[in-house]
Amino acid sequence: MNKGLFITIEGGEACGKTTQVRKLNEYFNNNFNSNDFMFVREPGGTPLAEELRKLILNYNEDKPLPMTELLMFCAARSQLCHNLIIPALEEGKIVIADRFYDSTIAYQGSARKVMSAKEILNLTKLVIGDLKPDLTFYLKLSPEEAFKRKTGLGELDRIELEGMNFHKDVAKGYDFISSLEKERFCIIDASKTPDEIFSIIKAEIEKHLKKSRVASPVSKSEDENSI
Ligand SMILES: Nc1ncnc2c1ncn2[C@@H]1O[C@H](COP(=O)(O)OP(=O)(O)O)[C@@H](O)[C@H]1O
Ligand SMILES: [Mg+2]
Repeated sequence: MNKGLFITIEGGEACGKTTQVRKLNEYFNNNFNSNDFMFVREPGGTPLAEELRKLILNYNEDKPLPMTELLMFCAARSQLCHNLIIPALEEGKIVIADRFYDSTIAYQGSARKVMSAKEILNLTKLVIGDLKPDLTFYLKLSPEEAFKRKTGLGELDRIELEGMNFHKDVAKGYDFISSLEKERFCIIDASKTPDEIFSIIKAEIEKHLKKSRVASPVSKSEDENSI
């Protein structure tokens, strides 16, 4: 259990993670003191991790081997966790991440089969220590539905361009890890509308905030008075 609250948003391509993170960003900006929360994305979040993100997602000259890809994700995660996430949680902040290590279990574990979920969890522990999300939203969408959404999007990255079987294995990976850690996971049917999904996420977060001692919403006037 973290001193702050660590929330992660997970799911396959085009399930709506970034759409929900944008809504959460607006909600937190309108209802919380800006010092009480932090948004990050994986891979990325620090200058070095953002450089690694470009290499992981778009470097095609010397295509990363599956193991190399896994280690690059771990390298970016190390930088992000030790420099930003862990210090923020120690200060009692709410941290919201667009993807985290469950993505590695689903993509590099279940889909690329570099190693098992258990081995990835062991490796992750070496990289980031005891850090674990308190609450993970898994936006569950069939790969067929996701493919329909993706056709409307611009240029796709190296991982988004993988075929249907790859994305079916990604879904299996998420189903596996979410069934293993039922306490941490909130599984949401991602075929609902963005507003329906957001109201589920918001209610769940508010429930967690009531249970914990971390920051709670403030009225904007209270916010202004405290400056
Ligand atoms: N609940 C939803 N229903 C229908 N379309 C959605 C929904 N959420 C997001 N989208 C659309 O699907 C596409 C991918 O959404 P995005 O949030 O970028 O997904 P992700 O970050 O999971 O890849 C975008 O075009 C977005 O507008
Ligand atoms: Mg996204």
